[in-house]
Amino acid sequence: MNTLINKRILVGVCGGIAAYKTAYLIRGLIESGAEVEVVQTHGGTQFVTPLTFQALSGRPVHSRLLHHDSEAGMGHISLARWADLIVVAPATAHFISKLAHGMADDLLSTICLAADVPILVAPAMNRQMWNNPATQANIQTIQSNGISIIGPGVGDQACGESGPGRMLEPDEIKSSINAHFRSSLLSGANVLITAGPTRESIDPVRFISNHSSGRMGFAVAQAALEADARVTLIAGPVSINPPDRVTYVPVTTAFEMQSEVFREIEDTDIFISAAAVADYRCVDVADQKIKKYEDNLSLQLEKNPDIISNVTKSSHKPFTVGFAAETDDLANNAKSKLKAKKMDMIAANPVGKDKGFDSEYNTIEVFWNDGHLNLGTSSKQKLARNLIKLIASRYDEKHPD
Ligand code: PMT
Repeated sequence: MNTLINKRILVGVCGGIAAYKTAYLIRGLIESGAEVEVVQTHGGTQFVTPLTFQALSGRPVHSRLLHHDSEAGMGHISLARWADLIVVAPATAHFISKLAHGMADDLLSTICLAADVPILVAPAMNRQMWNNPATQANIQTIQSNGISIIGPGVGDQACGESGPGRMLEPDEIKSSINAHFRSSLLSGANVLITAGPTRESIDPVRFISNHSSGRMGFAVAQAALEADARVTLIAGPVSINPPDRVTYVPVTTAFEMQSEVFREIEDTDIFISAAAVADYRCVDVADQKIKKYEDNLSLQLEKNPDIISNVTKSSHKPFTVGFAAETDDLANNAKSKLKAKKMDMIAANPVGKDKGFDSEYNTIEVFWNDGHLNLGTSSKQKLARNLIKLIASRYDEKHPD
């Protein structure tokens, strides 16, 4: 399964001859749908020029710490926050030693120190350097600090010797990255997700809707797939593509969304309602385009069904997670909705201009009966993965079998 779509991978390149293989790694990551930022150490730039990596990643390469140009653009902290995962390939003995000692004397080591995402290190060095007790002690230290070591391989080395120390091949590194995003947290679970807006017609050419892009719900669907769930995604009109391997059901109105939800509900273990369902629809939809003769126009609206409330009232109530889109008093409004709609959890997000709706980023705090967790501000993909982890742990508590 390709888990790399839309993943943000920061590739660190140190000074070793294996750096030429990193070019193939970057090309492979991009082909699989990942976004890649490259950070080269000074030594790294001596082996392969930044221009090569820039051409492959489609982005400028970063190599300088505390330089006014780079800090004005994507500085070391922004890069650390941008990434979903960092892979250092090749990682030299010197760089591994810096990681082990928490040094931050260049851009790449500083990013690694500032990052709160998984870091994979693909060592590449002479066999004697690899076997040296100092290197082995450093490897143990960084592993115990949560960094994953991938490789090294065994075989002929550029220096003419043979033994352990070869950097893994690009495909092997890519597989390790792929595996890192996969989990079995929701193995065997059927997850039903709604996303995007609904559209309620006024006449044949006009409608009532909202700014939902579907991004949040689609990111949740991708994260559920990566956690090994079977995913059905019901979405209102959006202009983004659904993840591969979901059962995708496009709809237009709230009524259509509700009937598709109820078609699935008996087989659903977890229902996640990220859709921004239009609360009202027109009582009468005009057959012909309404002419603009008058200065004012009144539309009579009636309430749409509250899909999530109807799900939690149903005889087969799945574990139900809603979203609360709030412009004010986030926590109190979210907690009231949690209770009123009898959900198991609610993910509250502040919405407004450039916030929540139609943005790459979001801010989420999750509430349940006797607890809450602030997932902070991040890309929708990263928030979705953390939300799925939380849902899986709360779901397991309620369904210990
Ligand atoms: O799509 P994006 O651009 O990525 O934006 C994401 C988002 C802001 C739309 C998303 O994160 C979000 O907050 N979705 C829920 C928006 C919303 O309708 O919130 P609400 O507070 O009005 O509704 C509370 C819950 O009831 C939601 O789970 C909603 O799906 C559900 N609901 C609401 C009305 C209705 N008639 N039926 C429902 O099921």
